[in-house]
Amino acid sequence: MSERTLVLIKPDAVRRGLVGEIIGRFERKGLVIDALALRSMDGELADAHYADHVTKAFYPPLKDFMTSGPLIAAIISGDEAIAVVRTLVGATDGRAAAAGTIRGDLSLSNRENLVHASDSPESSAREIALWFPEF
Ligand code: PPS
Repeated sequence: MSERTLVLIKPDAVRRGLVGEIIGRFERKGLVIDALALRSMDGELADAHYADHVTKAFYPPLKDFMTSGPLIAAIISGDEAIAVVRTLVGATDGRAAAAGTIRGDLSLSNRENLVHASDSPESSAREIALWFPEF
């Protein structure tokens, strides 16, 4: 079943020049880029995007990191795109993520882990509405 998912290519990936590498992995898999924009996350958008995490201990440093520079926001679609994208991205902590995944190949951190991807149809719908209200 074709789905849409919201992907953020995080500020560390932009700083490291990995945007093309990461988008290329999604494209080579056969997924489709429906929307793509260079954006930034201010504190208000961070609190809305990470509404489930704002009370967690790791949230303040996560918010500082996500508001530290430009990022890429994208809508990616394809068959079972939500699960497929999360498989390509890999586990949260880049040190533990499997080789062959984006985080497993390119990250050594659970904060500077390059990509955010929606984890369910509900979060995908909520996050797409937040980042791309025109969709
Ligand atoms: S949870 O609690 O299991 O739902 O959290 P998880 O899905 O593992 O992570 C949610 C997002 O929080 C980020 N994260 C962190 N940021 C900073 N410091 C620490 N220690 C930390 N641990 C987790 C993690 O990268 C996830 O970001 P997103 O953007 O959702 O990928």
